[in-house]
Order: sequence, then structure tokens, then C-alpha cells
Amino acid sequence: MELSGKVAIVTGAARGIGAAITNSLCENGAMVVMVDVDKEALEQRANLVNQKNGSAKPIVCDITDQTVVNEMVKGVVSENGKIDILVNNAGITKDDLIIRADIEDWEKVLAVNLTGTFSITKAVVKYMMKQRSGKIINISSVVGLTGNPGQVSYSTSKAGLIGFTKSLAREVAKRGICVNAVAPGFIETMMTEGLSDEVKAHFLGGIPMNRPGKPEDVAGVVLFLASSQSDYITGEVIRVDGGMAM
Ligand code: NAI
Repeated sequence: MELSGKVAIVTGAARGIGAAITNSLCENGAMVVMVDVDKEALEQRANLVNQKNGSAKPIVCDITDQTVVNEMVKGVVSENGKIDILVNNAGITKDDLIIRADIEDWEKVLAVNLTGTFSITKAVVKYMMKQRSGKIINISSVVGLTGNPGQVSYSTSKAGLIGFTKSLAREVAKRGICVNAVAPGFIETMMTEGLSDEVKAHFLGGIPMNRPGKPEDVAGVVLFLASSQSDYITGEVIRVDGGMAM
């Protein structure tokens, strides 16, 4: 998986799955622009990556702010001349049953998970189209495929990302750009740490491989989709879930 000379942007890179993706792209030679809203965690994580001979640059940026996103992407291109890989990983949850859910929470989830992804992809894809190459990888979720009670907003956003992936894949395929999605199952990160023991046991009971996933399990598939090993794959959704949603 040789990525030397490649320039990547990973959103939500300060921790969890985004941090593991950053590690794996850097270990394989890419220069990674790490985007996140959490300045302190982002800088700490970038220092760790760079200490291990990686090449990571932290940029604090809220992907829901289209103006800031456009400036950030313009800056990356003027500094590096191109963007080869975009990993849309930043995401949030605001879980509740619909009868108790606030419309504000619904809007926040869609703003980050869907509209934020739209904004940064729109800013990046225009450069990829000129280059006639690029890899865009969207982190969806198995709940975007199966649904999940209490996660109407989150699973809607993740199902939306699958439609986004397939439509964009069709739009840009002739320009040499591959667009794919990864649908993780139950992965141990801060996002899932707060779940009750009951909910965790419920998820675990539904995993044929009988263990939760690690961020590195997801990062391995993202690395494949970012590399030339996957050049004939586009519009695909790859589950990384220990068999949970098969
Ligand atoms: P996490 O909550 O540990 O990390 C998410 C990161 O995104 C944080 O560093 C956060 O500061 C950043 N972020 C949030 N809003 C942002 C914004 N507006 N702009 C820029 N950065 C922002 O989450 P985790 O578990 O690492 O998840 C990563 C992705 O994987 C998310 O899209 C999530 O929905 C998805 N996923 C996670 C699963 C899991 O079991 N952990 C399962 C399926 C999908």
C-alpha cells in the first residue's frame, strides 16, 4: 500500500477511528492533513504521529462552516499542490427515540454527518477533477443499512452518506476519482464508550465474530480504498462489523 507523495485530508482525526486512519495513511507514506474541532486533542495526536516519523499537519476546522472549509482546502492545495485522498470520517450522534428527540439535535447530526461531508467534498472534488485522480472514502455505519431504534437522526445521516457515495461515484468516475463508503459496526471508541452495559451487550450479542471492532480494523479497509490496490472499485460500501449486518 505505497502512498509516498500522496496528500490526504482526514476529518475527525483527533481521536478514535480518524486517528487510526491517520496513523495508517502516514505509516504508508502519505502526508495527512488532520482536521478536527478539538484543538487540544488534535495537536496532541499530530505530535504523536509525527514522533513516529509520520507526516501529519493538524488544522482546526469545523466542517459545518462552509467558508472555513473552503479556505482550509484552498490552503492545503496551495501548500501541497494537490489533494489525493479525502476521508470523510467526522461524525456525531444525538441519540433518542423520535418521540423525545429535539429537531435541533436532528439538525446538528445532519449538519455534521451529511452537510459537513457535502461541503468539504465539494471543495476538494474540484481539484481532484482537474487532477483527473482521487480517492474519496466516506465513513458511514451499519445502522445506515439496517436502521436502529433510538438512532433515527444518526442512521438517516449514515444512509444518506451511502446515497451520496453512489451518486458522486457515478458523477466523477470518468475523471478517475473513486468514491467508496465504509460501514463500521460496533467499534470501541469514545463514541461507543458512553453506551450502557445493556446496549453494549445487545450489540455484542449480534456480532458473529463475538468481539467489538478496533479503530485499526476500519483503518485497514480505508488504507486499501485509498491505495492503488482498489483502483477498479467505486460506489461500493464495505462493512467492517465482524459479520453484524450480513
Ligand atoms: P469519535 O466521537 O471518537 O470521534 C469523532 C471525531 O470527530 C472527534 O475527534 C470530533 O471532535 C470530530 N468532530 C466532530 N464534529 C466535527 C466537526 N463539525 N468538524 C470536524 N471534526 C468534528 O467517533 P468515532 O467512533 O471515532 O467515529 C468516527 C466515524 O465513524 C464517525 O463518522 C462515526 O459515525 C463512524 N462510526 C463509528 C462507529 C463506532 O462504533 N465507533 C460505528 C460506525 C460508524
